[in-house]
Amino acid sequence: MKCPYQIQSLEQYHTDYQRSINDPDTFWADIASNFTWKKQWNTVRGGDFKNGQSTWFEGGTLNITENCIDRHLADNAQQNAIIFEPNDPQSDTQYITYQQLYDRVNEFAHVLQKHGIQKGDRVCLYMGMIPELAIAVLACARIGAIHSVIFGGFSAQSISDRVNDAQAKCIITCDAAYRGAKTIPLKSVIDDALASCTSVQTVIVYNHVNETVNMVSGRDFWWKEEVSQVQQDKLGGFPAVEMNAEDPLFILYTSGSTGKPKGVVHSCAGYMVWANYTFVNVFQYKQNQLHFCTADIGWITGHSYIVYGPLSAGGTTLMFEGIPTWPDAGRFWDIVDKYKVDILYTAPTAIRSLMGCGLDPLENKSLESLKVLGTVGEPINEEAWNWYHEHIGKNRLPIVDTWWQTETGGIMISNLAGITPAKATFATYPLPGVIPQLLDENGHVLEGNSVSGNLCIAQSWPGSIRTTWGDHDRCLQTYFSAYQGKYFTGDGCLRDENGMYRITGRVDDVLNVSGHRIGTAEVENAINMHPGVVESAIVGYPHEIKGQGIYAYVIFQNEIDDAQTLKTEILKTVSQLIGPIAKPDKIQFVPALPKTRSGKIMRRILRKIAEGESDKIGDISTLLNPEAVEVIKQGVI
Ligand code: WT7
Repeated sequence: MKCPYQIQSLEQYHTDYQRSINDPDTFWADIASNFTWKKQWNTVRGGDFKNGQSTWFEGGTLNITENCIDRHLADNAQQNAIIFEPNDPQSDTQYITYQQLYDRVNEFAHVLQKHGIQKGDRVCLYMGMIPELAIAVLACARIGAIHSVIFGGFSAQSISDRVNDAQAKCIITCDAAYRGAKTIPLKSVIDDALASCTSVQTVIVYNHVNETVNMVSGRDFWWKEEVSQVQQDKLGGFPAVEMNAEDPLFILYTSGSTGKPKGVVHSCAGYMVWANYTFVNVFQYKQNQLHFCTADIGWITGHSYIVYGPLSAGGTTLMFEGIPTWPDAGRFWDIVDKYKVDILYTAPTAIRSLMGCGLDPLENKSLESLKVLGTVGEPINEEAWNWYHEHIGKNRLPIVDTWWQTETGGIMISNLAGITPAKATFATYPLPGVIPQLLDENGHVLEGNSVSGNLCIAQSWPGSIRTTWGDHDRCLQTYFSAYQGKYFTGDGCLRDENGMYRITGRVDDVLNVSGHRIGTAEVENAINMHPGVVESAIVGYPHEIKGQGIYAYVIFQNEIDDAQTLKTEILKTVSQLIGPIAKPDKIQFVPALPKTRSGKIMRRILRKIAEGESDKIGDISTLLNPEAVEVIKQGVI
């Protein structure tokens, strides 16, 4: 069956866009009426966007799992919902039909209920990229518990910060995860994290790798034993809990300008509609296609385009446990050919790293099944775009460059595959419902074309962030206060002569390293935990593969005899406190940092030096310590 709200032509894009702006209530009501509701909504758009309090479909009730699973059973019970490609290419594929997904999600919902998990409770998930992660996410949603997936690369400290902030009652994890040639000992990291988490009563462990783990009696339980008990008890289907449209569906922690990650909260109904609508339209998904999003479910991309988008559309989603370069750099292409993938959605950093491996890994790969390519997570440079287009798309496939954020729930600015025009390095045009605006520093809206400024969104859309967990004020401060009445994205952006948008990168103290958001303050706090460090400053610099690399300027208290050992110690500290993804690429020891007279570190100057543009620093005479700049320039690495 054709999806009634899938945009079929450029003309339709224009008319739908206009309708979505002129009459959003009718536009979104029409779309929402295609979903399964327990109770119809009263108000399509409500609340107060200008004060960061939007509501969508208020008064309505539903359960997202009925939309992602149950409603597909009548016609497509035997269709694959999830295809799982394990880390080891020699291991068996798992095919999970909608019927099997229904059974497994229900069983696990029973397990959660048995352990006292109820609607509104928080459950943290720290697992590898295996089907059980998707099953656990959906089981939480079925029972109405708020899931918070923590990326498997985060350290014990980062986990306990998140678990404590969410006051999670339960953790779901694995003994360990495979990642290329390595195994990652997830359960033992959880054990360390839980030493400082008092809210957690239950830990459920999926045995995946057969790693020896420590099980705490009365607290830790084996997933498989729990499920087999449910099967023996023949508990059957688990009635999907009735959720209010605006009840939180999940929390996902993301980095911001401060040292403390914030818990972005998404709603049940608005998020569902947005993830589904954007999935169907941007990728132009057609029934029976296979969608391969290479992200991890620990990030928003995995939530929206591995789990909720594809499943709500009755699609088949491919989950891949491993990494693009193991056993060799042809892994993605092997997967595409093995399963005849239709849509490939990946990140510029992956494209650049595969591009760096040359064309050998592409030899004997057909890639003929591919229909649509996508990228997400950071600005894509022209060279990587061209390589993707030529060598993967064979100069014939559309590439969708999708701009969005954890906070937006789903894609906001992107071309629609094969329907609206593409332009290399441009996200192009907004999706229906999205009003992008560019603002200058004084808060003036820049009208017309060929302008650049700070990107804001002027009106509420269904997938918008609802709050930051436990601290709504922070949500207001971060997103709704810089520009009165608008959502501020933190990105710089330009609009070209044809009105197409190109995201130029973050304008705040947030780095984007390999498509992962990292706050400079978080890394600085971690470095400062090293006992010998007095102060540090982090900036980003252009990195060939990662997009941005992390450059650390560090003031050490004593004379340094062995800089190498010290650097290794600092890297270890960062790894332990945040995770390996936040490790600086370069560390420069400096005697002082350039500061303003009010004591603020002048990052602009440090950035220029790190970017190799110290000749473009400009006037430094107003600094408190202009002499520091010269010393830093000389010591550059
Ligand atoms: C930041 C959001 C959206 C899911 C993955 C990242 C950057 C994202 C693009 C793109 C240029 C992009 C922005 C944004 N970004 N997509 N297509 N072109 N930049 O989610 O971790 O919340 O990061 O990623 O800077 O603000 P996230």
